[in-house]
Amino acid sequence: MPQLRSEADFIHEAVPRYTSYPPATEFEAAFDPQTHAAWLAAVPKGQALSLYIHVPYCDRLCWFCGCSTKQTKRYEPVSAYLEVLYKEMTLVAGRLGHRHHLARLHLGGGSPSLLKAEDMARLRRELDKHFDIDDRCEVSVELDPVDMTPQSYDGLAALGLTRASLGVQDFDPLVQTTINRPQSFEETKAVIDTLRARGIGSINIDALYGLPHQTPERFAATLEKIISLRPNRIALFGYAHVPWVKKHQRLIPEETLPSPEQRLEEARFARQRLEEAGYQAIGIDHFALPDDSLAVAARAGQVYRNFQGYTTDPCPTLVGLGPSSISRFAQGYVQNNPATDAYSRAIEANALASSRGLALSEDDRLHGWAIERLMCDMGLSFARLDEAYGKAADPLIARIQDLARGELSSLCRLNEQGIVLNHQDGFAARVIASRLDRYYKPVTKRFSNAV
Ligand SMILES: C[S@@+](CC[C@H](N)C(=O)[O-])C[C@H]1O[C@@H](n2cnc3c(N)ncnc32)[C@H](O)[C@@H]1O
Ligand code: SF4
Repeated sequence: MPQLRSEADFIHEAVPRYTSYPPATEFEAAFDPQTHAAWLAAVPKGQALSLYIHVPYCDRLCWFCGCSTKQTKRYEPVSAYLEVLYKEMTLVAGRLGHRHHLARLHLGGGSPSLLKAEDMARLRRELDKHFDIDDRCEVSVELDPVDMTPQSYDGLAALGLTRASLGVQDFDPLVQTTINRPQSFEETKAVIDTLRARGIGSINIDALYGLPHQTPERFAATLEKIISLRPNRIALFGYAHVPWVKKHQRLIPEETLPSPEQRLEEARFARQRLEEAGYQAIGIDHFALPDDSLAVAARAGQVYRNFQGYTTDPCPTLVGLGPSSISRFAQGYVQNNPATDAYSRAIEANALASSRGLALSEDDRLHGWAIERLMCDMGLSFARLDEAYGKAADPLIARIQDLARGELSSLCRLNEQGIVLNHQDGFAARVIASRLDRYYKPVTKRFSNAV
C-alpha cells in the first residue's frame, strides 16, 4: 500500500517546470549535429514555423536572474553577436531547404530591448530574406522597460511587433534593492501607455512571487499596481532560487526569502486576487483577460506549453536561433550551445551550433502529451488520452488512477473524466507531472522548488 502524504509534504520538493518533456536537463550531450541538419531538412514544405531568437545580453544584471544572459555596458558585443546571428539564420534557412511562413516570431533573452532601432529594422530585413512574414504572424518581444528610448518604439515597429512582454517582477523599493532591479511604476506605465498609443494591442507583464522581503502586504501592493495597468496577460512565476547554477543569486541573502509555505500562500492569494480582478487563470502561472486569445484558447482546451511558457501556437516545429535556444521538431529536441563564444565559433565555421538534443521515443510522446495537458488544463482527461493514444495509454491511465487514490490523493482526485486538482496550484501540477515523468529522479540541487 503506497504511503499517503499530505499536501504540505510536497511543497519542499524540487521538480522541473515541464516547458518540454523530457525536460532539457535530460537532453544528451553526445548529440550529433548531423541529426539536427536532417531534422531541419525534413520539415515539410508549406508548414508554418515558430521562430525563437535569443539575445544573450542585458545592460544590467538583476541578482534574481535565472536567464541565459550576460551583462554588457558596451554595444560592440551585441553588434558582433547580431552578425553571427544573421549567419546562423542563413545557415538554418539553407538546411530547411524551402521558404517557410512564420506563424510566430519571439525575441527573448536577455533583453532584446537593448537592440538599437536600426538593428531591429535590420533584423527584420534579414528575416524577410529567408521567411515569409505577413500580418498573420504574431511578433512578440521581451522588453526591459528601463531600456526603452523614444527610438526603441520605431525599431519595434520596423520589426513588426504585435505583442510586448515587459519585465516588472515587483514594484516594492526594498524588494527591488535586494534583487538589484530598480524600476519605477511611473516609467513602467509610461512604456505601456506609449506601446498602446502606438497600436500594440497586447501587453504581458512578468511578475514574481517568492522574492526576498516580499511580505503579504508588499506583494498585495505590487499586485494592485499591476492590475491597475490592466495588462492583457500576466505571467506570475515563482522565483527559482538556484545559486548553485546562477552564482549571482548568492548576492540575495537567503534569510530574506519566504519559506515554501509563505510562497504557497502568495501564489494562492495572487490567483484569487487576479481572478477577482477579472483575469482567467491559465496553467500553472499565467493569467489573461477573458477576451485575450490565450484565454479563449484555454476555454477550448487548445493551449500548449513551450519554452516561453504558454502559447496558442500549434506549430509542430519551433526553430531556435542564438546561444542556448531550443528547437523542437516532430522527431525531437535540439539545443544550441549555451556559451556565446562556442556558439559563435561553430557558426563562423559554417556548422550548426547544436550541442545537445534528444530523439523522442513513442513512450516520450505519450508521457509528454499527458504532462503537457496536465500543465495546460490543470487536470487530465482520460477520454482525450485514450483518443490520442488508444490502448497504448492504458498502463499510464492505470498508473494515474493508482497515484490519485494513493500517494497523490492530497493533490488530486478522480472524477468520471479523469483527474482534477484539489487546489488549482501550479506546484500540484508540477509534482503530479514529475510522477508521470519516466526520467525524474528525486534529487535536490537540480531543479527549483515546486512552489
Ligand atoms: C528574459 S527576462 C524578461 C525581459 C527583460 N530581460 C526583463 O528582465 O525585463 C524573462 C523573465 O524571466 C523571469 N525570471 C528571470 N529569472 C527568474 C528566476 N530566477 N525565477 C523565476 N523567473 C525568473 C522574469 O520574470 C523575467 O521577466
Ligand atoms: S531579469 Fe531580464 S534584465 Fe534582469 S538580468 Fe535577467 S534577463 Fe537581464
